[in-house]
Amino acid sequence: MQLIRTISEMQQFSKGCKLSGKTIGFVPTMGALHDGHLSIVRDSVKANDVTVVSIFVNPTQFSAGEDFNRYPRDYDGDIEKLSGLSVDAVFLPGVDSVYPDGYKTYVEVRGLSEKLCGQFRPGHFAGVATVVLKLFNAVMPTRAYFGLKDYQQCVVIKKMTADLNLDLEIVLCPTIREHDGLAMSSRNAYLSTEERLEAPLIYKALTEAAKSVNDNSLKTNAIAQILKESLSEMKTLTEIQYASAYDPNTLDEIKTGGITEGQRVLIAVALKIGSTRLIDNIEVD
Ligand code: PAJ
Repeated sequence: MQLIRTISEMQQFSKGCKLSGKTIGFVPTMGALHDGHLSIVRDSVKANDVTVVSIFVNPTQFSAGEDFNRYPRDYDGDIEKLSGLSVDAVFLPGVDSVYPDGYKTYVEVRGLSEKLCGQFRPGHFAGVATVVLKLFNAVMPTRAYFGLKDYQQCVVIKKMTADLNLDLEIVLCPTIREHDGLAMSSRNAYLSTEERLEAPLIYKALTEAAKSVNDNSLKTNAIAQILKESLSEMKTLTEIQYASAYDPNTLDEIKTGGITEGQRVLIAVALKIGSTRLIDNIEVD
């Protein structure tokens, strides 16, 4: 497994793979790898000749006052985990090489970026889209892999890929959960013992709400109601940012009129337990 630290070295590596006709699978991450990340890596290893994983805590997707400085970093542990998975290269660019002095260019996926998490994290998805495009230009993947845990991120990246005619396939991977249902996240490490004990209620609330989607008599307002009531059982809950049923393509809330036969529904929540912000979702057919 090669460790690559500069963009030009990364491009050289990928050009070499392409010249020998190899497909490149790419898994972008911010590190502090858990089984959610590793499951995506395994999907890429299975489907491609070569797999590249990037580890880069991207400053432009954190707003002022967010957790950029204290975001968990464990480069040695991450490299050890990846070396057991037949990963061919780990790309670890420095902040100065991704955003050198005088850096000015940002990618904005309008509309979709302002919904859901965008209301609470202004500029977040411009930071994500920008770094993902820069990483794509460095790695030049055949396929890039993203987790549905970050549903809005998947929608934004798919839209950017289509709108900018990027010549690669975006592959979306299922959310991996702890045994008690809590979606794996690097930020779960911030939870106190009491908060961690209550956190599985998020998935419980989502599954209860999902059951009600198939109850024809229910309007979507009732789904938001069910979610909020279930989530309020958590003593450590400090804020619900959003919790409702959404159209999986537009991310607009499905409000009055209820859900029609055959419609796919995204049930998504963002909340704070103590001072830790967590998101989760499930998609229901
Ligand atoms: P990060 O939070 O490290 O996540 C890297 C990838 O792992 C993302 O595609 C994310 O959706 C996926 N992932 C995280 N937790 C998961 C889980 N429990 N199950 C399945 N997949 C999971 O998302 C980012 O980094 C960044 O925004 C990035 C795309 C790297 C751009 O900086």
